[in-house]
Amino acid sequence: MANLMKINNAFLKILATRISQYPTDELPEFLLVGRSNVGKSSFINTLIGQKNLARTSSTPGKTQTLNFYLVNNAFYLVDVPGYGYASINRDMQKKMGLLIEEYLENRKQLKRVFMIIDFRIKPTEDDILMYQFLKYYDIPVTIILNKCDKVGSSKYDKNFKVIKENLDISKDDNMIMFSSLNKKGRDEVLNLIETLLVETI
Ligand code: GTP
Ligand code: MG
Repeated sequence: MANLMKINNAFLKILATRISQYPTDELPEFLLVGRSNVGKSSFINTLIGQKNLARTSSTPGKTQTLNFYLVNNAFYLVDVPGYGYASINRDMQKKMGLLIEEYLENRKQLKRVFMIIDFRIKPTEDDILMYQFLKYYDIPVTIILNKCDKVGSSKYDKNFKVIKENLDISKDDNMIMFSSLNKKGRDEVLNLIETLLVETI
């Protein structure tokens, strides 16, 4: 296997609440989606190897804008607010939901969606809707089974099965076990990103 991609630099380049604020440099983008508090921001920190670049919190609703992290001056990781959290500010939540949908339908630079789900539990109704949305628009997706550090290996097979069945996962979508706690899956995701970037050139 090729050497693991090195992260030379990464920083938050743009915080967006509307389309006109998105980057215009046309670099490839990777978007994270998932339930609030599932670990999207932690996933970014783990990939780039910085503890606190993306703000995380044990209370849901931490990420409020579309956050474009520029990595190696070559691609963006895009962090978004999570779904399934009844926030106080419903109008804002609705606005961000529509913005994410619009992004998914139209963004040409989008190379892959990382849909993060909680490996410990059955997919929620919102997870199922999101997956169906991605399938409907034929958007390439990789499922990240997060927080696997919290699951004993004796439960792996069962949890896999429950998730596969409930999301009705297509055969050709890959799933990656991940943990921001012990970094499991990090190399696999970085290799995948690298492969997709090469395809772009
Ligand atoms: P929103 O921004 O609210 O949508 O949440 P988020 O999806 O960005 O989640 P965030 O990364 O802020 O993490 C939420 C909580 O889950 C934090 O307390 C993290 O420490 C914890 N967490 C994230 N990933 C993992 C993981 O792989 N394992 C464990 N055990 N905890 C995790
Ligand atoms: Mg977040």
